[in-house]
Amino acid sequence: MLNKTLSPSLSGDEILEQFHLSRKYSTDLILNLSPEDCQAQSMEDASPAKWHLAHVTWFYEVMVLKPFEDNFTYWNPEFAVLFNSYYNGIGDKHPRSKRGLLTRPSLDEVLEWRKNIEGRVIKLINEKFSAEVLSLIQLGINHEQQHQELLLTDIHHLLSNNSLFPAYEPQGHPLSSSKQSFQWIKGVSGLVEIGHEGAGFHFDNEGPKHHALNQIHSIGNRVVSNLEWLQFIEDGGYQNFQWWLDAGWAWLQSEKISAPLYWNKDAQNQLLRFSLYGNLPLDMNAPVSNISYFEADAFARWAKQNLMEYAGARLPTEFEWEAFAKSNTEASDDLFGKVWQWTSSNYTPYPGYQPWDGIAGEYNGKFMVNQMVLRGSSAYTPVGHSRVTYRNFFPTQARWQMTGLRLAKDGI
Ligand SMILES: [Fe+2]
Repeated sequence: MLNKTLSPSLSGDEILEQFHLSRKYSTDLILNLSPEDCQAQSMEDASPAKWHLAHVTWFYEVMVLKPFEDNFTYWNPEFAVLFNSYYNGIGDKHPRSKRGLLTRPSLDEVLEWRKNIEGRVIKLINEKFSAEVLSLIQLGINHEQQHQELLLTDIHHLLSNNSLFPAYEPQGHPLSSSKQSFQWIKGVSGLVEIGHEGAGFHFDNEGPKHHALNQIHSIGNRVVSNLEWLQFIEDGGYQNFQWWLDAGWAWLQSEKISAPLYWNKDAQNQLLRFSLYGNLPLDMNAPVSNISYFEADAFARWAKQNLMEYAGARLPTEFEWEAFAKSNTEASDDLFGKVWQWTSSNYTPYPGYQPWDGIAGEYNGKFMVNQMVLRGSSAYTPVGHSRVTYRNFFPTQARWQMTGLRLAKDGI
């Protein structure tokens, strides 16, 4: 069977406009950053801002210009190695753990390269108006949006390693509180339609549309709050093995985990959370964020037995989450735009899944093992990048993304 072919869902003019907006937004994100801020890499999972800006440009150069531009030549053929992330079909890669050591090219050179590639992509849109070219550019836009979120999460992590906790943006707003008191909502049970259908951009991993069977269940009308998480901590949740998966317990002990990432205390023992906007008092009614799958799973098992309102709680499956989001968008104001929500679903292909044709086939499919699905979107997700069928995925110990949880339970 043939692989899935990319097709554009917008007109050339709309794609051109989105291209301009997405390219500008990336460079807007570094307006408050110095070249030194853009250079450093805080850990292997994170990448320097300069690398993100370069990599999304590399994507256009090798995926769009190289196959379709007349008389194509690389701006610099060495960049094809330095800024290749994980595409074995393209060739050699600079090691991920050493991206922060790429002092050359300079930030200025990367920005100059960005402008060159932008001009050439715009020329291509105007001259080669084919569905194939437009669909690859649309993929490039969505790819750049994913890296915009990563750039913010990686800068957040980098600045958290500075003892003075410098703010990325002093005037911004951290995660807002939930206005809702908790209640269970009857979930959508029986055979439910899952996945993307018809027009509109979507990644290959969101399809094909198919049926899944949801048991009778309920789902929370809001995500778990910092106050609820603090109760877990104060009840010794991080010290009691009975709430934890074995691998989670081993991770917790080896990494000395005792609270969500970015929680800390001031000299007066007041709880703070470091955000892009500085080290601020912990907002108890805001969604808990920056927790791993292991922590989300342990919290659910603890809450099931220890919080009356969460009796019977567990993590939702990604199908329960999607059916809820499709039918109850008005019942929850935090499905999108606050925290990604861990589900109990392994990241595996849907029945009939086909990766995209060509090099883009490496985009999603080859990561479908040892990761869990997250649904929704976060405060760092670019506007217009969220979808009810969107499947984000991370390994069970990852927690530098804006990750939280919503609970479900069996029955109604
Ligand atoms: Fe990428």
